[in-house]
Amino acid sequence: MALKVALLGCGVVGSEVVRQLARQADDLAARVGAPLELAGVAVRRPGRVRLPEVDPALFTTDAAALAVRDDVDIVVEVIGGIEPARTLLLDAVKAGKSVVTANKALLAEDGATLFAAAQATGADIYYEASVAGAIPLLRPLRESLAGDRVERVLGIVNGTTNYILDRMDAHGSGFSEALEQAQALGYAEADPTADIEGFDAAAKAAILAGLAFHTRVTAADVHREGITEVSAADIASAKAMGCVVKLLAICQRSPDGSSVGVRVHPAMLPREHPLAGVREAYNAVFVEAASAGRLMFYGAGAGGAPTASAVLGDLVAVARNRLAGARGPEETTYAGLPVHPMGDS
Ligand code: HSE
Repeated sequence: MALKVALLGCGVVGSEVVRQLARQADDLAARVGAPLELAGVAVRRPGRVRLPEVDPALFTTDAAALAVRDDVDIVVEVIGGIEPARTLLLDAVKAGKSVVTANKALLAEDGATLFAAAQATGADIYYEASVAGAIPLLRPLRESLAGDRVERVLGIVNGTTNYILDRMDAHGSGFSEALEQAQALGYAEADPTADIEGFDAAAKAAILAGLAFHTRVTAADVHREGITEVSAADIASAKAMGCVVKLLAICQRSPDGSSVGVRVHPAMLPREHPLAGVREAYNAVFVEAASAGRLMFYGAGAGGAPTASAVLGDLVAVARNRLAGARGPEETTYAGLPVHPMGDS
């Protein structure tokens, strides 16, 4: 029997999810063990969406009804922002639906409420696409490194700001010109404030730190400074010292291990550092763990197809869990370490 998927939102990422569901239907069905069938697509203005892969009858403006409909097994949310996404997903997990979301802002603000609701009903919430787009990162942190002790996570998790800083470094561009180019290429959020002021990176840092240190971190816990004050002169002086300027998300244990520090700010990195070579809008996350040592995760952190890749991977995972009558690993916040934005160091 087919598993029915409700899609909430159909922008750049949602449209790509729909295309891939259609193009890869047979392969996905074989991997899951059952076909994945689109039950409906909730959008604000159905007339505006041009997607020949979707039967027009599947479009609805009533996301609330679609998210809890009896025949729906899995809800995929790519609307973004806090509301209405929070209410829609809460209702979906309360109704026992499995959830896949790319919503970093929501998870970083109020993930705890969603995870508690999911735990009560046994629903899955998977969110690989919320941090660093295509890069498999959250499941490695949550699962592959579950037997290790992560000490530090250092990441370039915002493609727009990396693109801007890279243009300023490589071409001597001014900030505004580089930002316009990042927007033209579709990297920036609709309102680039979230990118250039570091809110987007802070939300991602909160999610990463929570998983890495098994504690609860919200965006409000993260010390944040964006790149709007970085001038061409700053980039030139860094260059003269053999360094590059990067917007870094830094998540680390305090030296005595009793707390966690999470912060986002521009930082100078020596050109030999592996993160210094991350160019254009790419993302990379450097993880230091007690036994694994240093690991680097690198790839496309934004864009329709890369982000859809992460959404579809989660979709396959929750579909498999559902068929097996199982659920993925719970959010572990057993450590309950306090978070101090700047850490103790
Ligand atoms: N605006 C974000 C970025 C998109 O530039 O990385 C992905 O979250």
